[in-house]
Amino acid sequence: MQTDSKHTAQGLHYPVYFGKDIWCNLKNLLETEFSSSTIFILTDENVGHLCLPSFLDKVPALADSPLFSIPAGEKSKDISVAAKSWDWLANYHAERSDLLINLGGGMVSDLGGFVASAYKRGMPYINIPTSLTGQVDAAIGGKTGVNFSGYKNLLGVFSDPYAVFVNFIFLKTLPKRELYSGFSEIIKSSLIAGEDFWEEIKKGGLDAENGLNRQIIRAASLKISIVDKDSLDLHERKSLNFGHTIGHAFESISMETGQRPLLHGEAVAAGIICESYISHKLIGLSEDTLNDILHLLKRYFPPLKIDFYEDDFYRYLIQDKKSQNGVIRMSLLNAPGTVLVDQPASMEMITESIEYYKEMTSP
Ligand SMILES: NC(=O)c1ccc[n+]([C@@H]2O[C@H](COP(=O)([O-])OP(=O)(O)OC[C@H]3O[C@@H](n4cnc5c(N)ncnc54)[C@H](O)[C@@H]3O)[C@@H](O)[C@H]2O)c1
Repeated sequence: MQTDSKHTAQGLHYPVYFGKDIWCNLKNLLETEFSSSTIFILTDENVGHLCLPSFLDKVPALADSPLFSIPAGEKSKDISVAAKSWDWLANYHAERSDLLINLGGGMVSDLGGFVASAYKRGMPYINIPTSLTGQVDAAIGGKTGVNFSGYKNLLGVFSDPYAVFVNFIFLKTLPKRELYSGFSEIIKSSLIAGEDFWEEIKKGGLDAENGLNRQIIRAASLKISIVDKDSLDLHERKSLNFGHTIGHAFESISMETGQRPLLHGEAVAAGIICESYISHKLIGLSEDTLNDILHLLKRYFPPLKIDFYEDDFYRYLIQDKKSQNGVIRMSLLNAPGTVLVDQPASMEMITESIEYYKEMTSP
């Protein structure tokens, strides 16, 4: 990890730069390692409008780079949009020695990383995350992919970025709902980290004025250290999935049925409440911590409307990559700072947790 170029990356095989003075690192990298390459920029229509101009002001050498701007939103994390991106690269005769820059939130980095990793068996890509979810989570760790057949992240590969550049300034234009959505990943990180991080988040909440940059670096650093130990998600990395087994099922079902689909972090927030309840029931998470988690999340996230059938929900849960032989497994929290991975949970227990969620969040 590198902050304003003062710190050196620990662990990961690629640098992650944080701060407002990182563009000189990017310029340096482009001049030294990609001087004879074409640099392609993938973004979405919102980010193209709100962030791209200031980015190009800072890195004018990219002003004439080929640009592909895709519609904003989770619907674009789709194989059809990946195919259009491959068409775009092929039409420009992109080569394996060229570079793709993904400028945007988690949708753009997941899709763009996947596009780059498959194009001519892999071209390098750089992530420049502009959303809070992207900065604390999605842009780091090399999980790339698209949703498929209604299921979250069904197609994808592990493929590390060449580098990641996190500039907090981009968050100034991020809508509040999106900011809160990213904050659920910070809450998750603080629960996984435990100790003073959880205490800080529990007491102070989202500190957008003074402390958010520090919270971002802290959450991202936790991810970096865990991914370093288990990049392929075989053991420790699964702890980062706390809240996501049920969260992804909420997200998928809302994509299928919802008029106004849930944001990723909103679904994860509900998933954290349900999985905390299951943690309390199955592995001894204390009632006090369960209540603290519930009260914190209720401050930022309105209750989900839950009007689906159990069978439909099960269909999504069983597609989770942690499920094995028809048994749903999840990462559960024993206490802040202690996560147990691969814990089996019955459908009855999951249904009970959703009933708990409904009861505790009803107005
Ligand atoms: N690969 C991973 O490890 C990982 C981890 C967490 C989440 N994800 C994925 O990330 C996605 C969610 O990420 P997201 O919330 O960033 O989604 P997103 O990329 O769809 O961005 C959310 C919205 O914010 C807009 N936006 C982004 N930056 C902006 C800015 N600076 N100003 C104004 N608007 C801006 C986007 O245009 C979009 O409308 C999901 O697909 C999720 O599965 C991946």
